[in-house]
Amino acid sequence: MSDGSSYARIEPALQLMVEIASGNLEARGELVGGGDAMDALVGGLNMLAEELSGKLDELQEANQELQRANRELKEMQVQLVQSAKMASLGSMATGIAHELNQPLSAIRMDAEMSLEHLDPDSLNTASLDDARGALAHILAQVDRAAEIVSHLRTFGRQDVADALAPTDLDLVVRNAHALFTQQLRLADVDAQLELAPDCPPALASGNRLEQVLINLLSNALHAVSNCAVKEIRLRTFADDSSVFVEVEDSGPGVPASIRGRIFEPFFTSKPEGEGTGLGLAISFGIVRDLGGELELIDRDDARSPDRDGAVFRVRLPRADGLKT
Ligand SMILES: Nc1ncnc2c1ncn2[C@@H]1O[C@H](COP(=O)(O)OP(=O)(O)OP(=O)(O)O)[C@@H](O)[C@H]1O
Ligand SMILES: [Mg+2]
Repeated sequence: MSDGSSYARIEPALQLMVEIASGNLEARGELVGGGDAMDALVGGLNMLAEELSGKLDELQEANQELQRANRELKEMQVQLVQSAKMASLGSMATGIAHELNQPLSAIRMDAEMSLEHLDPDSLNTASLDDARGALAHILAQVDRAAEIVSHLRTFGRQDVADALAPTDLDLVVRNAHALFTQQLRLADVDAQLELAPDCPPALASGNRLEQVLINLLSNALHAVSNCAVKEIRLRTFADDSSVFVEVEDSGPGVPASIRGRIFEPFFTSKPEGEGTGLGLAISFGIVRDLGGELELIDRDDARSPDRDGAVFRVRLPRADGLKT
């Protein structure tokens, strides 16, 4: 038998192999009958294609099942975070009631006093002044109650997991800083941005991160307000798996006695009526929801251990997902 004719005999089987190898699992070879070796080979290949096609279907089904389970898992995660928030809101209810009760009682007292001062029978310049003073106090208390409510609203807000996106830290830090320009100038605070060039984007939500930085900046501004040296530094940097934002101030630092409590809802060292004590608790929750961490770092671990003051560090996952 010549080479040419034996090639012609095996050609259908070869073509079938090529078809199967290139992924066409519907391909089948024709059997000529007579039970010779070539028929056995083509029959075997047909079986192989059949078998492979069955396995591929099974794999696709398993893959769809996996994707569905993954979607369910993500939904459950969102629900879990939300119910954890609701649970902590529940346990905060007594505190919230107390917090709101203070401005409400003050408003009530001031309103009663205003009514007395505005009594038409005894109205004079002094009583008008007193009434104006009480009304101004009412306005301040209303602002305070509104601040508490707005803090709580952000705390209870449901965030969907897919709100995470590559986020340019430079932009968020600059935005948060810009919001404070006027306040920093008025308080004579020197704020410096130490932004790492080419800092990789974080996997985060820009709005929520900005809210965290606003809280940290507001605390830093408050901390330096009575100090001789008034400096705030906003710093970004990255390592292989994470990006970081630090807010450092030249204030007195956080006393060791309260370090363990500052992230608790309603914990504040500010005078009665000045702070809600929710800033850090909310920021902590936001950063944790974003898959990162917010911590007060020890001065010894800070980049400038010789300075005084507090350093709060936000760690977030890198959007490019590099892992060490
Ligand atoms: N930069 C800082 N330096 C020193 N102490 C701080 C600093 N940031 C926070 N703290 C301490 O942590 C406490 C809790 O801070 P948090 O932001 O939660 O509430 P707050 O600032 O007191 O109230 P609010 O945020 O409503 O103004 C503060 O009262 C203060 O004692
Ligand atoms: Mg605060």
